[in-house]
Amino acid sequence: MTDLRRFNGQVALVTGSAHGIGQAIVERFAQEGASVVVADIDLTGADAVVSGITAGGGTGIAVKCDVKSKEDISAMIEKTIATYGKIDILVNNAGDVTIAKHFLTTDEAWWDHFLDTNLKSQYLISRLVAPFMAKAGKGCIINMSSGGATRSHRGMVAYDASKGGVEGFTRALALELAPYGIRVNALVPGLIVTRPEHAEPVADERRNKTVPIGRGGTPADLAGPAAFLASEDAAYITGSCLVVDGAVLVQQRSPQVETFPIDTFPKLEDI
Ligand SMILES: NC(=O)c1ccc[n+]([C@@H]2O[C@H](COP(=O)([O-])OP(=O)(O)OC[C@H]3O[C@@H](n4cnc5c(N)ncnc54)[C@H](O)[C@@H]3O)[C@@H](O)[C@H]2O)c1
Repeated sequence: MTDLRRFNGQVALVTGSAHGIGQAIVERFAQEGASVVVADIDLTGADAVVSGITAGGGTGIAVKCDVKSKEDISAMIEKTIATYGKIDILVNNAGDVTIAKHFLTTDEAWWDHFLDTNLKSQYLISRLVAPFMAKAGKGCIINMSSGGATRSHRGMVAYDASKGGVEGFTRALALELAPYGIRVNALVPGLIVTRPEHAEPVADERRNKTVPIGRGGTPADLAGPAAFLASEDAAYITGSCLVVDGAVLVQQRSPQVETFPIDTFPKLEDI
């Protein structure tokens, strides 16, 4: 919980915000005074998030939107403008990571699913939202990337390609929208516990050993960085990919094969 109210009077639209990272981000914007749009393919989940927000004194609407559908995207933007008249902050968070397959067993439909859900959606939504921001002379777009953009996962050729695209898209869009007062950045989450299988003890133990900071991330770990990027404190930050991963990506070797193991680090009494 925060006492900051950096987004009073602003409108924030977050896709994929019925669960996980998107939920934590939309709740943070609402806590800090924004009117929010909780957009998700799961309307029941989005309604539940809005109920929580309004019970806490915030303001929000739920919108059903499959980000693979141009019609749903248009309807989502229309509903947002009809309700609030503007969009100050857009978080292109919706993404799918679920269907891991070896490349040699994949087909075109699998590829299209990931590229459409994770990358093309960010283009389609930004394309409709940016004109409103440009006419207002200000706005902030945050695209959700992944460590997979620069360090690959096995079984996730299409996911990693989509996230590499997200980072290229983010940089290019930042250049083209800077003259209009719109900043565009990406967040790069690490190993964030959002699904029941992530929280199983074996998975938990493996993750805690792999992450230098010693634990998996929580959705809330992304909420503060998203709010920072959307705030005036980040007024000079655009075209950046902010890594939020407890130092996973900077490792050359995982702790399991490290030649200078953590248990040989000096004890506090020896330094
Ligand atoms: N969890 C991680 O470790 C991790 C790491 C790197 C990047 N990410 C990225 O963060 C974002 C959120 O991931 P998460 O872990 O919170 O996932 P999640 O599965 O917990 O939540 C994803 C949300 O998006 C919604 N969604 C899925 N497909 C949709 C569609 N077609 N249209 C609209 N909504 C849709 C789901 O209903 C859900 O509410 C994704 O872009 C993901 O790639 C997550």
